[in-house]
Amino acid sequence: MGTSNKTLVAYATKGGVTEESANVIADILRDKHSFEVDLVNLREESSPDFTPYKNIFIGSGIRMSRWYKVALRFLENNFEDKNIVIFLSSCRAGDPKTRDEAVVTYIDGVLEKFPHIKPIATEAFGGRMRVFRKTVTDNWDKEKVKAWVEGIGKKLSR
Ligand SMILES: Cc1cc2nc3c(=O)[nH]c(=O)nc-3n(C[C@H](O)[C@H](O)[C@H](O)COP(=O)(O)O)c2cc1C
Repeated sequence: MGTSNKTLVAYATKGGVTEESANVIADILRDKHSFEVDLVNLREESSPDFTPYKNIFIGSGIRMSRWYKVALRFLENNFEDKNIVIFLSSCRAGDPKTRDEAVVTYIDGVLEKFPHIKPIATEAFGGRMRVFRKTVTDNWDKEKVKAWVEGIGKKLSR
């Protein structure tokens, strides 16, 4: 295995869903594509050294229509020749009725402000919302994350 498939999955989570997606991404890339993968929780380590990596996945949850601050700040980096992949957790993206609008707002609208970031893939998955420890919405779909990252793994292996 060469360094060409060294992959960083950097994520910001508050409710835990983005971390679950990050773990699925890491597992599939390791097990099915033999990539070397490291995970970093940006709220614990906000400025990881990303220089050794060829591929960088950046994930954030969405609250109040916004990315988490540490993930947004991470986008300010100059990733130059890296393959950048963006993934989000958003209850509005997980609902077919609001999905398109969520993608436009949370992906297109945000990336517009970071023109130096040219991701090879972007996706917004669903999320989970708890109110007083009761789950009121859960539209995160693990199988969807799996299928998506298998495709990305193939693309990055070429
Ligand atoms: C206070 C709060 C505000 C939220 N605001 C939004 C929102 O504006 N749009 C949306 O799609 N989902 C919203 N959600 C749902 C989150 O996207 C969902 O909880 C997701 O799982 C967050 O990712 P995380 O679990 O990795 O933190 C909100 C959830 C909470 C708790």
